[in-house]
Amino acid sequence: MSDTPPVPRSDAAALPGHGARIRPTEAEDLAAIRDIYNHYVRTSTVTFDEEETELAVWEHKLTLLAETGLPFLVAVDVAGTVLGFAYAQHWRAKSAYRFSAENTIYLSPDAAGRGLGKALLEALLDASARAGLHELIAVIEPTAAGASIALHRRYGFVDAGHLKGVGVKFGRTLDVLFLQKSL
Ligand SMILES: CC(C)(COP(=O)(O)OP(=O)(O)OC[C@H]1O[C@@H](n2cnc3c(N)ncnc32)[C@H](O)[C@@H]1OP(=O)(O)O)[C@@H](O)C(=O)NCCC(=O)NCCS
Repeated sequence: MSDTPPVPRSDAAALPGHGARIRPTEAEDLAAIRDIYNHYVRTSTVTFDEEETELAVWEHKLTLLAETGLPFLVAVDVAGTVLGFAYAQHWRAKSAYRFSAENTIYLSPDAAGRGLGKALLEALLDASARAGLHELIAVIEPTAAGASIALHRRYGFVDAGHLKGVGVKFGRTLDVLFLQKSL
C-alpha cells in the first residue's frame, strides 16, 4: 500500500502538516461524529446536552443541512478517520432569520490543540459565506471552552452577549457567551 496521501477531491481542502483534509460530511462519517460529540456530552460543559446522542440525531442533521443548503464539514486523516466536524445551522426556524446561523465545531480530544480547529473554522466560514449566510453566532460556555473562545476571536468573532445562569450540568450553574461574526 502506498504512503502517499489520497489526492483531495475538488470539494476538499488539503491541510499541509496535518495529513488531514476537510470535505463535506457523508453518511458514513456520522457514527464517528456521534462518538466525538458524545465524548464531550459525558465529560464537559462545552455542550449543554446531558444525554448521549443517537445516530438518528446526526442523520436528521445531515438531511436538514443538505435541504437548507448549509455546510456540514468533516476533517479526516489520511486513513479516513474523522478528526472533527463543523456545521452551521439556522439560528432560529422563523424565516426572517434565514441569513443567520449558529456554528458548531468539535474535534476529537486527540486532534485538539494542533491548529486543526483553525483550519476547520476557516473552511466553515468560507462555506457559510458561499451558502449565502450573513451572520454566524457561536454559543460558548466560558469556563470549559477557552480554546473555542480564542479560536472564534482569532477569526473576528466579537462579543454579542452574556447570559447568566442559563444552564445546569454536573450540578453547576453555567453561563453562555454569544460571539458573532458578519460574513
Ligand atoms: C475548540 C476547538 C475546536 C479548537 O480547536 P483546536 O485545534 O484545539 O485549536 P487550535 O489549535 O486551532 O487553536 C486555536 C486558537 O486557540 C488557542 N488555544 C488552543 N487551545 C487553547 C486553550 N486550551 N486555551 C486557550 N486558548 C487555546 C490557540 O493558541 C489558537 O490561537 P492562536 O492561533 O491565536 O494562537 C477544539 O479544542 C475542540 O474541539 N474543543 C472541544 C470541543 C469544543 O470546545 N467545541 C466548541 C464548543 S463552543
